[in-house]
Amino acid sequence: MTDWPVHGRIDGPIVMIGFGSIGKGTLPLIERHFTYDKSRMVIIDPNDSDRALAEKHGVRFIHSPVTRENYRDLLTPLLTAGGGQGFCVNVSVDTSSVDIMELCREIGALYIDTVTEPWAGFYFDASLGAAERSNYALRESLLAARRANPGGVTAVSTCGANPGMVSWFVKRALVNLAADLGDGSPEPKSREDWAQLAQRLGVKGIHIAERDTQRAKNPKPMQTFVNTWSVEGFLSEGVQPAELGWGTHEKWMPENAGTHETGCQAAIYLLQPGANTRVRSWTPTAQAQYGFLVTHNESISISDYLTVRDAAGEPVYRPTCHYAYHPCNDAVLSLHELFGQSGRVQETQHILDENEIVDGIDELGVLLYGHGKNAYWFGSQLSIEETRRIAPYQNATGLQVTSAVLAGMVWALENPNAGIVEADELDFRRCLEVQTPYLGPVVGVYTDWTPLDGRPGFFPEDIDESDPWQFRNVLVRSGDMPISGKPNLVK
Ligand SMILES: NC(=O)c1ccc[n+]([C@@H]2O[C@H](COP(=O)([O-])OP(=O)(O)OC[C@H]3O[C@@H](n4cnc5c(N)ncnc54)[C@H](O)[C@@H]3O)[C@@H](O)[C@H]2O)c1
Repeated sequence: MTDWPVHGRIDGPIVMIGFGSIGKGTLPLIERHFTYDKSRMVIIDPNDSDRALAEKHGVRFIHSPVTRENYRDLLTPLLTAGGGQGFCVNVSVDTSSVDIMELCREIGALYIDTVTEPWAGFYFDASLGAAERSNYALRESLLAARRANPGGVTAVSTCGANPGMVSWFVKRALVNLAADLGDGSPEPKSREDWAQLAQRLGVKGIHIAERDTQRAKNPKPMQTFVNTWSVEGFLSEGVQPAELGWGTHEKWMPENAGTHETGCQAAIYLLQPGANTRVRSWTPTAQAQYGFLVTHNESISISDYLTVRDAAGEPVYRPTCHYAYHPCNDAVLSLHELFGQSGRVQETQHILDENEIVDGIDELGVLLYGHGKNAYWFGSQLSIEETRRIAPYQNATGLQVTSAVLAGMVWALENPNAGIVEADELDFRRCLEVQTPYLGPVVGVYTDWTPLDGRPGFFPEDIDESDPWQFRNVLVRSGDMPISGKPNLVK
């Protein structure tokens, strides 16, 4: 596409917080798709290694962290100067999404982020228990902010690829599945309608199933953590407890699982780091594969969104939902190295830019399973080659995120008084209309694979053969030997 559409006008200042891999990729999309006054755009980051890039685009760069202490004084004048409605694009680490979005709403500025991020120190705070360090807790703090101040200026929460775009894929996939299963009811209009559709179709669960096949030109050196997006972001979420939306069809729970006493109750957590927790999943290119069950906001928000409750408010249907992430091979090796050295983080961290990658795709989609057609993957198969052709300063992983930020910004401009919203609550058709030109092939594929394929093998396993789609069968456990409560069959 050469004639890129202009989707809207931002008539106030734009403040971008963070100029890492996502910030750098988002800037050219903002330039391409909005009209705004460049002289009123500013980027804030404590790392000024890419200051020259910002300045090349005519954008002022402020070399500073945004902190709990300075955020009000720093951001308020920047977001209000010169009139019009400001727009805060938060694509940083270590800044509190909830605090910054509340400030934005107070001063009338639109806001978007890609993760519910806490202030620095939260992820590695040994004084906090696992439940307190969970995404459940972070999301509940967002929901509390919404309850305290319903409506008002739009703040779009967690609107990247995942969390973000995948919530739109879930709706698209449900609509496709409904057609293929002969469900002739009209397309859902409300949250309740979507939940009932998922229930009617018999969807037991959803994996956010990703395979990143992008290969680096140079092999990973020892003591370097290599990834295709934020190493810091990945490590932060990777050492949080593994978390998943917990479906009503589940008959077994891991012994180290914890539940929450307050809040939406849609999720559980495991007393183990997500980046060291493997699950069986499936994507079209990899077919059957191991993925990491890293905690993500969408695992909780999608399960919560698709919950059907009875008159007493008790959940009668909810799908299980979790991430099953096979990052690029170098990131898998990096995790292996890190956990092998007792969690000591490598001295060097490196994000592969678009020029350092030989080939590969980021295959990111949703796997809806347990229904009448077994399992259906719907998602994007964006290649590094196509990414280089259509958008600067990013790899395929980055473009899936930045194009979702673009879609969320367009939606916010078109719906400026929607209050605090999660990606699940945006108009998925409009968002995908804006985003799809950046997603490469977007495909839906059925598979007859289940997590019981090829099992048990040479060794006895603790599996539930009555229902392949039990989490008991999905979770990879130590050697997949029988665990306590089951007879040890090894003679
Ligand atoms: N939803 C999604 O799909 C998705 C995908 C990728 C990344 N993300 C999130 O987006 C954010 C950015 O990711 P990235 O890959 O660009 O990370 P990155 O590590 O490349 O960049 C983060 C930037 O934030 C800056 N920063 C650190 N502390 C700051 C502070 N106090 N104030 C302002 N800036 C600060 C860093 O200097 C860095 O430039 C992360 O929170 C990440 O988890 C979300």
